[in-house]
Amino acid sequence: MGNSAIVAELDALVAQCNQEIAALYLAIPTIPAAQVYVQQWGIFTRHSRRCWAWVVGNCPEVEVRRFITKENLYEEEGQIETSHYEKLVRLGLRLGLERREIDDATPLPSTNLALHVWECLTKNYPWKEGLAAKAVLERSGFPDLRRIRQQNWQRALQLSDEDVDFFALHITADEIHGSGAYELLERYVRPEEMPAVLAAARTSLQAWALFGNGIAAAMQARGAVLPEQAPARS
Ligand SMILES: [Fe+2]
Ligand SMILES: [Fe+2]
Repeated sequence: MGNSAIVAELDALVAQCNQEIAALYLAIPTIPAAQVYVQQWGIFTRHSRRCWAWVVGNCPEVEVRRFITKENLYEEEGQIETSHYEKLVRLGLRLGLERREIDDATPLPSTNLALHVWECLTKNYPWKEGLAAKAVLERSGFPDLRRIRQQNWQRALQLSDEDVDFFALHITADEIHGSGAYELLERYVRPEEMPAVLAAARTSLQAWALFGNGIAAAMQARGAVLPEQAPARS
C-alpha cells in the first residue's frame, strides 16, 4: 500500500499556490512582456535540469533515478529534438529575441532567489524532499491555467500552434512527469517522513510564487494586462 495521503496534501499545496500565482497564467502579454517571460523562464528551465540531477545524485533507488533520468533529463535536455529549452528558445526567436538574449539573460532578483531555494532543496536535502520540491512544480497551473495561458498568448500575439509548442508540451509532458513523480512519492515516502517532505514542497511553491509573480510584475511593467483579482506581487 502506498502513502496516498501525500498526494492529497501536495494537491492542496499546489491549489493554494495556483491562486497566488494566477496572474502569471492569466496575463495578456505584449511582445516586450512575452520576451521577459521567455528570458526568465529560460533561466528556470536550464537550472531545473541541474536540480533534477542533484536529486538523482542523492537518490540510491535505481527505479527513481531511471524515471528522472529518462523523463526530466534525457527527454528534456539530452535529446536536442525534444529539448524543452530549445523549444522555448524557438518561441523567443519568434518574439524577436536573439538567441544570446535568452542564453545570457539576467535573472530578476525574484528569479535569482528562487533558484537558490531550489538548489538548496534538491542538493542539500534528502532525495524524497528534493523530489517533492520538483514534483509540485510540474503540477503548478496544471492543466487549466496552462491552457488559458496558451490561448492568451496565441490570441494577443498572433502565435500559431507550432509557435507555442513549448506551452502545449507542458500540458502533455507534465501529465507524465507530475503523475510519475507523485506515484514514486506515494510509494517511497513513509508516514514519519511526511512532514519534512511536505515542508520541502511548501518551500518550493513559495519560491515558485516569488518567481512567477516577479515575472508577472515585469510583464505588467512592459504593458501586459493582469487580472485585477490576482494582482502581481513583486
Ligand atoms: Fe520542461
Ligand atoms: Fe516537466
